[in-house]
Amino acid sequence: LNNGLALTPPMGWLTWQRFRCQTDCARYPDDCISERLIQVMADRMAADGYRDVGYEYITIDDCWPALNRDSNGRLQPDPKRFSSGMKNLSDYVHSKGLKMGIYEDFGIKTCAGYPGSEFYMQLDAQTFADWGIDLLKFDGCNSNPDDAKFGYPAMAFYLNKTGRPILYFNEWPLDDKLHGRKSNYAAVQQYSNAWRNFDDVNDDWDSVKSIINYYANNDQNFLSFAGPGAWNDPDMLVIGNYGLSPDQERTQMAMWSIFAAPLIMSVDLRTIRPSSKALLQNKRLIAVNQDPMGIAGRVVYKDQNIQVWTRPILPKGSVAVVLVNLGSGGSPAQVTLPLNTIGLTYPMGYRFTETFDGGNLGQYKPADTFTCFVNPTGVFMFTANLL
Ligand code: DGJ
Repeated sequence: LNNGLALTPPMGWLTWQRFRCQTDCARYPDDCISERLIQVMADRMAADGYRDVGYEYITIDDCWPALNRDSNGRLQPDPKRFSSGMKNLSDYVHSKGLKMGIYEDFGIKTCAGYPGSEFYMQLDAQTFADWGIDLLKFDGCNSNPDDAKFGYPAMAFYLNKTGRPILYFNEWPLDDKLHGRKSNYAAVQQYSNAWRNFDDVNDDWDSVKSIINYYANNDQNFLSFAGPGAWNDPDMLVIGNYGLSPDQERTQMAMWSIFAAPLIMSVDLRTIRPSSKALLQNKRLIAVNQDPMGIAGRVVYKDQNIQVWTRPILPKGSVAVVLVNLGSGGSPAQVTLPLNTIGLTYPMGYRFTETFDGGNLGQYKPADTFTCFVNPTGVFMFTANLL
């Protein structure tokens, strides 16, 4: 979507994967979907270094609204959980140097049963703009599947009409997939800043692996539609929660970087492990993810468990490379790559730098081979720069 936003993949934090639809603030005051949760996470994002490496949008997913619209038909937040109102909350988020996102659905109700935007789209877009919202995540539950091609573009139109720059995330291709349809990715790209095309991420390896395989298969060539202003969204980073091992966390961060995917955390920033925090803030991985050319990586080699992905990055001629081992047993896989078979063909050769720790891996020419070990469910990642 050509609205001047998301020129590189958006980065931020979202409530859903970690906090879901917990609305019982009497019992769970620290974990319920409320202004307090958003304020605390905004504080952590600003104070603990996340904002300074690029994480910017803090977004409230489903379960924020009151069950009824007000007498003018306007959406209102749950009066207990958001008692200061959304404008005050977005002012608070903005005072921390961050941007504020919210969730809605173009059907009659959201997935969790709160009022949807059907018949109210223009009013809702204006309400979000009036509240100082900077990002909308727009879902498709409880809608007629035939309406997706009208509903998603309509919201893009109404957001634009407000005059406020509002980054537009949606689930259009995922809705198509859930209804057994092919997506019109050219239209999706035209009307969206980022779009979900696969199932919801879960906090476990099977889920992360299924997303990697979906992106490797690149059904309908969706990776070619990524670029400045328009990104495939493989869903949230689950790094720092309960389900992934240290290797699997590295794998998610490396793959989301090579995909040119939005980096949207969903983790309790009050209690996150230091190792997970350091990984989320790794500047070399973020630099690959945020490369200004915005070209999504592709698989250049694949066998039963090993995939090799490459992504062109700046300075011109450089390439980011990830080797991922999707197998979960045994010992580290030894992989030997003839470099000219993965597109590293510059005659003068390359300097290789390991991405996680910045270590120098030496110089290589196209006719050379490169050998490394890739842990089960882990990755090896490096960048190749022209000599
Ligand atoms: C389905 C989406 O795919 C999830 O990311 C989340 O937004 C839920 N709906 C909320 O109900």
